[in-house]
Amino acid sequence: MKWILGKSAMWLFMTIAAAVVAFAASQGTQLPEGEGKQLVADMCTACHGLELVTEKELDKDGWKEVVVRMMANGATIDEKQIPVITEYLAKNFGPKKSASSQGGGGGLPDGEGKQILQNVCTTCHDLDLVTSTQANKQGWEDIVKSMNAKGAGLSDKDTSVLIEYLAKAFPEKK
Ligand code: HEC
Ligand code: HEC
Repeated sequence: MKWILGKSAMWLFMTIAAAVVAFAASQGTQLPEGEGKQLVADMCTACHGLELVTEKELDKDGWKEVVVRMMANGATIDEKQIPVITEYLAKNFGPKKSASSQGGGGGLPDGEGKQILQNVCTTCHDLDLVTSTQANKQGWEDIVKSMNAKGAGLSDKDTSVLIEYLAKAFPEKK
């Protein structure tokens, strides 16, 4: 009897401990200060955790698309709040972080394909993996196709635009 009681008390304790840890983790995502912080904290937590937001690196247009899509998902955001939220998100969770950490050239070269690279090729890994690679056109074609096979999901058109861009931006060093 004593043993059974002890065991269930232990279970209860472990269940509570796990719940406390989960709660602490969900509270742990911190937003940087700034105008728009409160809006994001209020509006963007109703359906999913903030980590979905803080993990992203998008420019203003990219964030605007997300916010508009969230409104379609049912987020109750006022038209007037869109620019404030987008501005805040682009400033704090913008694409520049991984691009500018490259040193040297400082950021990605401009060109058709840059946007695709920033939006699509950052969902599973850092851009560092891309910018530290040098290959000729055939090499980049193989890489992009293998990323598509993993689930990058580029259209045929975007695939060829991106291959051109990568072969020019990160060519094979002779
Ligand atoms: C009414 C519910 C709801 C609210 C409120 C909401 N979201 Fe979402 N969010 C979703 C759903 C559903 C998904 C997954 C489907 C999708 O991507 O549209 C999602 C996915 C996401 C993603 C990952 C998908 C992607 O395209 O990168 C991001 C980032 C995101 N939300 C950001 C936000 C931001 C920022 C806000 C506040 C402006 C917000 N969400 C508010 C429902 C919501
Ligand atoms: C669905 C997830 C996913 C997406 C999206 C994705 N990658 Fe990857 N990528 C991976 C994984 C997993 C690895 C490591 C395993 C490997 O090398 O096969 C990787 C490795 C790489 C590498 C280094 C290894 C190599 O093959 O030389 C490069 C370069 C790369 N990715 C480029 C890209 C580019 C460019 C894009 C955009 C078209 C992209 N990735 C999008 C999952 C992804």
